[in-house]
Amino acid sequence: MYIVQASLEPSRCKIGRTDDLERRLKEYNAMTGKSKNNVYQYLFAGEVKDAGQVEKAVKEKYPHLREEKSREIYFYNAVLFKDYVAFIKAHKLFVKEIIFKSEDKIVKIVKKTTPSLEERSISRKDVLQKAQKVKNDEFYTRYEDVEKEIRMYDKSIWQDKIIFCNCDDPVDNDEKRTSAFGLYFLRNFEELKVKKLICTHYGGGIDLFNAGGKGYIFTKEGFDEGKQFPSGYSGSFDDPLSLQILRDEADIVCTNPPFSRAIHFWKTIIESGKKFLIISNITNVINTAYIPYFKEGKVWTGYNRIDWFLDSKRQLVDAAGHWYTNLAVKNRPKYKNLKILKLKEIPEKYKKYDDNKILLVDNCYIPEDYKKPFAVSARPILNGLLEKGYTIMQEKRYTPYINGKECFARILVQKTCRQS
Ligand SMILES: C[S@@+](CC[C@H](N)C(=O)[O-])C[C@H]1O[C@@H](n2cnc3c(N)ncnc32)[C@H](O)[C@@H]1O
Repeated sequence: MYIVQASLEPSRCKIGRTDDLERRLKEYNAMTGKSKNNVYQYLFAGEVKDAGQVEKAVKEKYPHLREEKSREIYFYNAVLFKDYVAFIKAHKLFVKEIIFKSEDKIVKIVKKTTPSLEERSISRKDVLQKAQKVKNDEFYTRYEDVEKEIRMYDKSIWQDKIIFCNCDDPVDNDEKRTSAFGLYFLRNFEELKVKKLICTHYGGGIDLFNAGGKGYIFTKEGFDEGKQFPSGYSGSFDDPLSLQILRDEADIVCTNPPFSRAIHFWKTIIESGKKFLIISNITNVINTAYIPYFKEGKVWTGYNRIDWFLDSKRQLVDAAGHWYTNLAVKNRPKYKNLKILKLKEIPEKYKKYDDNKILLVDNCYIPEDYKKPFAVSARPILNGLLEKGYTIMQEKRYTPYINGKECFARILVQKTCRQS
């Protein structure tokens, strides 16, 4: 069994069998119509007892990762490659490894011809602005954070659903990061009984203006790269084609969108009426741009916060993110952080009145017998306060002053009869 890849096709590899590795490679490299620069190389080869059976097992294991039109081709990224190898090696008919190329050696950098700034009607200032923006947005989600959150929801919510990861590149090479969202759903496609996974990727990412948007579609019948995505597609979540997918196809949107465009992203997703599970800044719950959504019950917090992202050099960066969703959240474990007590039982140092005579309570203490609006920080909201019979009373953040001195921003809530 072997896994072979052409140097100019970083998102695919071929998995096959032969009794003569050298001859098979020559055949690949002599294929008619193939460019001379597109050199095939083995990434892995191993001896097996009955290659027919092992090949069949691979096909059955990864139906959604085989190309729809050419079933010998499999979707490639560095992590999935390791999964393929591990699967073949774990097969009872596997005998021994012959070739294995480490991740470093198989990274391909596909250089694209960059049109001049003039051709693209872009000034140097635009480039700097764009670069600045890109720098701010390139925080990638760690796989374990995606896994930790998604595991909290009922598996059945994904069944027969079309999942749309609309800020996600599922291909890993040196220039980009594989999306952990894409990877999670690809690895768990069968188990979650997903109907379709659509990943679209913005063309204006790290390689600035020259990449062009991309889209990948995965179904039980295989993967398709491109068919639905014409050249000129920007890959932006608000590109007309992305909006059409959102409107006509998507059941659940799942991603970590660009921080710099979060307000527009939230508006787009919430107005679409679709289900979503997304990451955003932890302070959104006390940010005036988002408070109305929480107030109207159009969004609530997911289960977990996120303390680390990866930058484009794959280094950990400290950040404060949180999951937000309109999927059902059950038995939120963080309810236990809420200290709902009678006002007189709340320690003095955690309650005070501001210059407007508004009660401020801190440290997740919540009065259960206080009839008027009071101000809290983001933490009680993140811990599920709005599901405990408390309602947001004002569409904008509340900035208290004590003796004329500004205190940190909060949100005004009040005990209401509603309790869920
Ligand atoms: C915070 S990163 C997260 C990437 C990925 N979703 C993840 O979770 O690792 C946001 C990504 O959105 C990309 N992006 C920027 N503007 C975009 C747009 N208009 N539409 C879609 N994606 C965009 C950025 O290039 C960046 O890769």
